[in-house]
Amino acid sequence: MKFFIDTANIEEIRKANDMGVIAGVTTNPSLIAKEGRDYATVLKEIAEIVDGPISGEVKATTVDAEGMIAEGRAIYALDPKHMVVKIPMTVEGLKAIKVLSSEGIPTNCTLIFSANQALLAARAGATYVSPFLGRLDDISQPGIELIETITAMFSRFPDIKTQIICASVRNPIHVTDCALAGADIATVPYKVIEQMTHHPLTDQGIVKFQEDYRKVFGE
Ligand code: G3P
Repeated sequence: MKFFIDTANIEEIRKANDMGVIAGVTTNPSLIAKEGRDYATVLKEIAEIVDGPISGEVKATTVDAEGMIAEGRAIYALDPKHMVVKIPMTVEGLKAIKVLSSEGIPTNCTLIFSANQALLAARAGATYVSPFLGRLDDISQPGIELIETITAMFSRFPDIKTQIICASVRNPIHVTDCALAGADIATVPYKVIEQMTHHPLTDQGIVKFQEDYRKVFGE
């Protein structure tokens, strides 16, 4: 399983990229709005930092296929080597995915909460589907079961090349569970990547090595 980072914050993206663990970036309208900066500028900046797929979502207020297609082409044109057009799971969204993918523009179908939605997106030609774990957990439905169902379903049909990006990842246990479920990618907030580096015994071990070293060798 690969890691993407789920943020539009440039500083977090730089830090995670320097760690060498991220293969791409996902953003959404809420994450970009949080930064309070121009949509296109942020996406272009991200694409200059990370050499991998960068998901930029069509505007939340664009709901018709024609609008999403026009915006999708514009997002892709920002940086054709990296940009992936993120499109919500709706009837209009599927139409837009079909047109964009027929033009060779990679797409990421977002707001996936059922296996059937994932299958529809795959058949429309989506490069990626983004099932949301945390938001299902929030309503007392085990999000990981959705990931397991989609991985099992896609593996039955070798002609499906759509990759599964686990989204709405909220903690390190989600990450382990997604990997065990056989997901292709987990898109993870910076805070969770950082949490994953820690273990109390690692931290204690570092302190002990430092103490022992200083006793003999000084600073
Ligand atoms: O990009 C979609 C996603 O990961 C949302 O996460 O925490 O807002 O449910 P969250």
